[in-house]
Amino acid sequence: MGSRPKHLVVFSGAGISAESGLSTFRDFGGFWQHHRIDEVASLEAWRKQPREVLKFYNEWRKQVMQAQPNPAHIALKNLERHYQVSIITQNVDDLHERAGSSNVLHLHGEIFKARSTRNPELVYHLQGPDLKWGDTCELGSQLRPHIVWFGEEVTQFNQAAHLMRQADILMVVGSSLAVYPASSLLQYVPEHAPKYIIDPRQPRMARMQNLSFIQSMASKGVPQLARELIALESLAH
Ligand code: APR
Repeated sequence: MGSRPKHLVVFSGAGISAESGLSTFRDFGGFWQHHRIDEVASLEAWRKQPREVLKFYNEWRKQVMQAQPNPAHIALKNLERHYQVSIITQNVDDLHERAGSSNVLHLHGEIFKARSTRNPELVYHLQGPDLKWGDTCELGSQLRPHIVWFGEEVTQFNQAAHLMRQADILMVVGSSLAVYPASSLLQYVPEHAPKYIIDPRQPRMARMQNLSFIQSMASKGVPQLARELIALESLAH
């Protein structure tokens, strides 16, 4: 009777998509260095200047459409042959899905989805790059980006915490762990589980969460760690 595959939980942030050409947020020269985040990614901005907010996400969506998954995303998909892999991502891009990962939980929403402003249960998959003022849901109310804006609730927090509790191994990739609930989610990982963080720079939070720091860009560090985890797994059988 083969033992069940070990459960690898991956927590990814903007850094995993950096080498696909998508900007990070707090990295030097990061995207938000040029945009005040509360100008576009907040409920207040939506109330004050909805067309600006829609335009901002239309631009971002177009960049995502031009991006391709990089070796880091692909290595995580390949790990599914050896581990149960659950990805919890702060990213709103779809590069994990496009790489073929089967279990992806978007903590901060998804840029290719829109939802009704009258009933948040009504969520639609966007076909094209643009979501416009005047695009309405089946109830006739304006559609908004299906993104968790600053100050809004992270509705999937409990599911993410539940996954973290079940982790046999944790891999953090490309997150500064600077945004709640990042740091608080990691505390749900069982004490005995090996925890890694792959990043060219060691985020301050990494030291406090006793994560083993692998100083590397994701496109090199993730495939490398994946090879080691696969070797480990084959030794166990
Ligand atoms: N490979 C791996 N990591 C990288 C790379 C790379 N090529 N380039 C940059 N990084 C690292 C940076 O060193 C940094 O630690 O990725 C991290 C990016 O951190 P942030 O820009 O803060 O992105 P993230 O942690 O995903 O931000 C979380 O904040 O603005 C909100 O909602 C937004 O989801 C976002 C959240």
